Amino acid sequence: MGWSPYDLVDQEQMRTLARPERLSETQLAAVKTVLYVEDHLPGYLSEYLRVMTDPELPDDQYIVNRQALHYTFRWVAEEDRHAHVLEMYLKRSGLVTQPELEADMLRERKTAYIFPYDTQMVEGFVYLALQEKATHLYYRALAKDLDEPLLKAILSRMGADEASHGAFFYDLLIKCHKGDLDALARKVSAVANDFKMPVQSNLTNYRRQILSLMRAAPSYRHPDVFTDMMNTVTKAASKYGRESLVLITPELGPFAK
Ligand SMILES: [Fe+2]
Ligand SMILES: [Fe+2]
Repeated sequence: MGWSPYDLVDQEQMRTLARPERLSETQLAAVKTVLYVEDHLPGYLSEYLRVMTDPELPDDQYIVNRQALHYTFRWVAEEDRHAHVLEMYLKRSGLVTQPELEADMLRERKTAYIFPYDTQMVEGFVYLALQEKATHLYYRALAKDLDEPLLKAILSRMGADEASHGAFFYDLLIKCHKGDLDALARKVSAVANDFKMPVQSNLTNYRRQILSLMRAAPSYRHPDVFTDMMNTVTKAASKYGRESLVLITPELGPFAK
């Protein structure tokens, strides 16, 4: 938690820090696409709640899901400010008029979002982990590649949120696969195989929109998303491997304390 769109895009910041005229047309198109993607939140939150509160679930799963929802409500509160801060920025900077932006957002939001891993919870969480990591790396790259100080600040805050969401899902997956991280690595490969940028198939003219996303942030490399998650799993595997070795033969503990 810890920051609000109202502080980040207030009149003072718009006057002193913002340089919207420095954005190229492609960069502006990319910022709008990021906004449309983030603004699918109402759709995917209702999907998520539908899956997590299904009354047909076995009792023990129902209890676990209620625990998981404590995280979910904080998570979606952070996601909600991503669409909100960009919407406020685009309007207050005068880059887009209010009626135009609202019509665009309405059109994009209306495309239904269906969670692709309804019945396979683990694959669903791998997908979410990859999605969070992709947005983290993309916002970081876009912040680096454009020359607008206020937008850099906004994207850095958003990227930090995505990084912490990604870390949460990595941690969750690693803990529940502690005994068999190879199985997790196989699931990551399978999900990553047909992983795309979040909700891209829901965007109108998505080829054009994805092209602007990539052109606006040349330092973003999509394969890094998969590599990052695999590295984390590998690191965890060697850490747990060492721990179990220490457990069996305590004299083989680390040399340096
Ligand atoms: Fe987000
Ligand atoms: Fe996120």
